[in-house]
Amino acid sequence: MSAVLGMCDGEAVAAVGSGPTLGQAEFQFLRGFVLQQCGIALGEHKHQLVQGRLLRRLRALGLTNFASYCELLRRDPDAELGELASAISTNVTAFFREAHHYDLLVSELLPRWLQERRREGDRLRIWSAGCSTGEEPYALAMVLAEALEQHSCKLDAKILATDLSPQALETARQGVYPLERIAGISAERCRRWMLRGAGEYEGLASVHPRLRELVSIQPLNLLHEWPMRGPFDAIFCRNVVIYFDQPTKQRLFRRYAELLPVGGYLFLGHSESLHGINDDFELIGRTVYRKRA
Ligand SMILES: C[S@@+](CC[C@H](N)C(=O)[O-])C[C@H]1O[C@@H](n2cnc3c(N)ncnc32)[C@H](O)[C@@H]1O
Repeated sequence: MSAVLGMCDGEAVAAVGSGPTLGQAEFQFLRGFVLQQCGIALGEHKHQLVQGRLLRRLRALGLTNFASYCELLRRDPDAELGELASAISTNVTAFFREAHHYDLLVSELLPRWLQERRREGDRLRIWSAGCSTGEEPYALAMVLAEALEQHSCKLDAKILATDLSPQALETARQGVYPLERIAGISAERCRRWMLRGAGEYEGLASVHPRLRELVSIQPLNLLHEWPMRGPFDAIFCRNVVIYFDQPTKQRLFRRYAELLPVGGYLFLGHSESLHGINDDFELIGRTVYRKRA
């Protein structure tokens, strides 16, 4: 799976020459802005790529040059931040991506949590931080709903799903996916949790209302203030921090540790690690960490 800024360079190159050019001064401003606001460290070599990605955004805003775009960011950084982040980062995701994490939940963590919490109203909280278009939190909701049914539990169970990108969040809220996007879901789960469209909705599938009940979708920049206080049983922050610089990762993982109880779990993406960054956690499986006492 590609990561943030994992686009193919051909896209950027194709766009060059068909619009305004991103000057060195504007590129340096954008690099500083994106690092400060999103934690994403854009290398010098991303110049053309950023130009290609932002041309579409300039057109959508009716701007004729990058200086005006930078001016807009200076004037009202918060208003444009989500759109900028969407333009330069990738939202690539999939249902049951990195399936071993779901296997651990099903075989070990959910049975244990549900065994420990038998009283009606006991809480269970999972956070999908950087949820993109919703496949991750809805897949989590499937395994959670199945475990709740199996244990006949009436827990207060919720999955918080947050992202910075307005477009990604809109797709997540709609919860409607082309059939090829649900290929990662087993046939049995598809039958149980995905509602196939007919007529004008042919070729689409919508998530079951039970999954919508379990998932709360909210905009959130991981670098800004967080309204929630936790505690969470597990945080999924997978394939989000790949291009974050070291100090940003250190701050973020320290904040995650504050929202997890001792023994709480942090799941990272396949190419991410806490090695040399944070020692609040111990590695207990493939990119799975548990908070130390
Ligand atoms: C590649 S997707 C990963 C989606 C999912 N977690 C997965 O592993 O399949 C990365 C997501 O992180 C989000 N993201 C990047 N920087 C962020 C930030 N500072 N705050 C919140 N979300 C951010 C992006 O908008 C994007 O949707």
